[in-house]
Amino acid sequence: MKLLSIETSCDDTAISVMEAKGSITNASFRVLANNSNSQINIHIPYGGVYPVLAKREHIKNFPILLEDALKKVKLGLDNKPIDPVRSRGSLRALATSNGIDAIAVTYGPGLEMCLWVGLVFAQDLAKKWDVPLILVNHMEGHIFSVFGKNKGKFKIPKVKLPILSLLVSGGHTQLVLIKKWMQYEIIGETLDDAVGEAFDKVARMLDLPYPGGPQISKLAEEERAKEKQSLREIEKQSFLGVSQADEPRGSAKPAGVDSDPEKIGFSISLPRPMLHSKNFDFSFSGLKTAVLYLIRKLAPPEIGGVKHLDEETKSKIALEFENAAIECLVSKTAKAIEKYGAKTLIVAGGVAANQHLRNEMKKVVGRKVKLLFPTQELSGDNSLMIGIAGYLNYLKNKKKFPKSASIKANGNLRLK
Ligand code: KG4
Ligand code: ZN
Repeated sequence: MKLLSIETSCDDTAISVMEAKGSITNASFRVLANNSNSQINIHIPYGGVYPVLAKREHIKNFPILLEDALKKVKLGLDNKPIDPVRSRGSLRALATSNGIDAIAVTYGPGLEMCLWVGLVFAQDLAKKWDVPLILVNHMEGHIFSVFGKNKGKFKIPKVKLPILSLLVSGGHTQLVLIKKWMQYEIIGETLDDAVGEAFDKVARMLDLPYPGGPQISKLAEEERAKEKQSLREIEKQSFLGVSQADEPRGSAKPAGVDSDPEKIGFSISLPRPMLHSKNFDFSFSGLKTAVLYLIRKLAPPEIGGVKHLDEETKSKIALEFENAAIECLVSKTAKAIEKYGAKTLIVAGGVAANQHLRNEMKKVVGRKVKLLFPTQELSGDNSLMIGIAGYLNYLKNKKKFPKSASIKANGNLRLK
């Protein structure tokens, strides 16, 4: 079947068309069109997603992206970049379905006023084209994102159960257990901020632009590389007998780290909240507040606050924050794998793009567990993951689709 999929739960307007076939355990897909518009530039001045603006942008961009996607499908243009000048962005060309057999749309969780935009357009088109409307949980979409590719063909491979899924995004931090295919049990989640939200808020404290996750991660990666390099140099020198004559080898520290406590009076160290708690829950609000107090201590508001912080100290804070947040995620995930005997681990959601998370997860997951991440392109919000989850749900629900009256956006929708 030709499936149109729609995602508008936050600040990405995304529309794709895929050819989907096969059974619920053996489905395959071909991407025919994949259009999206990120609103990052619009939200930068507000330091986060401004819902009213996001809704306005979804409404403005939806028809343009849709018309272009259908044109690509009809003309077999595949994944050519969108031409905004030639796309008129009207719904005139949409009177016929252009061979679309069904529509999948995100109905939660997310920003309700944004979800409604996709949902209203989807409902309208489904009625006009007389095709089924499939409602998709955004988080289930993230789980299936690990099987997708943003162009060409892909299929869902055989995956060993039980699956454990760590979902990490701007709104969620959850550990989800999947004992049976497409049945979900949330075994742990954040009690306050989502990890992506903490990255974004810490970035704002450090005066870095929105979205903060990639910015923090970039600074942290650079600082980590620098510290590793200094460590290597110290080790080389001590091997050559040049220095540290009376210092035991294990205590050699990178020059940057040693000089830092002297400069600022103490070493940068942040808490790992709930690291040793007996459950699988997380907490990131205390970590975020610890960063706030640290910045206030290093650069009090009276002397100009964060603007007074030098770049090196900012990078060290970013590194320690990333180390702390990722350690919490990785440690709880490792414990959950062991407790539930998971054979597959899926790590998905915007924060799954984080390189340190990927590296650390690889280190703790044994050879017996198959580790799956989405491609970098499909880590963030996209409509292909909605299409995959949509098709599988269509099969799971025996091709039944919801009655018009029951179609509602649900900002707090949970997996089950
Ligand atoms: O899944 P997503 O695109 O949207 C939501 O459903 O929330 O996730 C967005 C989140 C943002 O908080 C963003 O800062 C974070 O993912 N993020 C990252 C990285 N890339 C995106 N966080 C840490 N490191 C990254 N490289
Ligand atoms: Zn998301």
